[in-house]
Amino acid sequence: MNLGIKGKTAVVTGGSRGVGREIALSLAREGTNVVLTYQDNKEKAKKVVERINKIGSRAADLQLDLLDGNAVSKLIGKSSKHFGDIDILINNAAAWPTSYIKDMSLREWKETIQINLDSVFLTCQAFVQHCLSKKKKGKILNITSQAAFYGSTTGHAHYAASKAGMIAFSISLAREHAKDGINVNNLALGIVDTDMMRESLQEKNDYYLNRIPLGRIAKPSEIADIASFLVSEKANYMTGATIDATGGMLMR
Ligand SMILES: NC(=O)c1ccc[n+]([C@@H]2O[C@H](COP(=O)([O-])OP(=O)(O)OC[C@H]3O[C@@H](n4cnc5c(N)ncnc54)[C@H](O)[C@@H]3O)[C@@H](O)[C@H]2O)c1
Repeated sequence: MNLGIKGKTAVVTGGSRGVGREIALSLAREGTNVVLTYQDNKEKAKKVVERINKIGSRAADLQLDLLDGNAVSKLIGKSSKHFGDIDILINNAAAWPTSYIKDMSLREWKETIQINLDSVFLTCQAFVQHCLSKKKKGKILNITSQAAFYGSTTGHAHYAASKAGMIAFSISLAREHAKDGINVNNLALGIVDTDMMRESLQEKNDYYLNRIPLGRIAKPSEIADIASFLVSEKANYMTGATIDATGGMLMR
């Protein structure tokens, strides 16, 4: 299927590893230019850029700490210096710290919300302003989690709250800007084999597997093409939706 996103430009946060990396590569295979952000490992980001160049697409990497609200607000403006106007924004980067509610400090709570939710508000706001000022359409995809619906049993209440907030925020944004041709959707993941989960998977593999009807953990590459589809011209009639790619862990 030709997704119709050749020559468009996407910003992918956390594109140097895990799900974000695979999304960046999937978009590149569609001929989309990619600006990917990384937190601290420039080497890894450079390697993804090189891979994308080999595929035949253009890519650039930008360092970004999601705790730096000022830098997050400037992401879209900075990204547009590379390949021109931005057509697609994918908020993928997130933190998954562990702390049970009875022990959680307000600082831990706030930091998680800041990284996972405040940053989404700021990038989306800047992207919408960008689209409106250029009189162009746009696509936003926010990566959320089954935890937004189930909550967490393993010490991630702050994370679950941030991912649920992301969904309500996305629906409001979708409602406010449908008339401007800006589509906003979410992709809810279950358990994916990435750095975020690796330690937990080693410790409690059976606990996670037993909750997945398909009986296996997702590979990041299995998520990537679903994400590309959701920001493509083939998904023009979708907005305000949350699609579940969880191996059946989340059935609604
Ligand atoms: N792996 C899973 O099982 C799973 C399940 C549900 C949802 N998700 C979601 O998928 C998305 C991708 O996660 P992943 O599984 O690839 O994990 P990952 O840990 O490999 O990737 C997370 C990315 O976020 C970035 N990041 C974290 N804190 C940051 C900060 N303060 N500033 C800038 N960047 C920061 C990391 O550098 C990394 O690139 C996340 O939104 C995550 O919540 C993952």
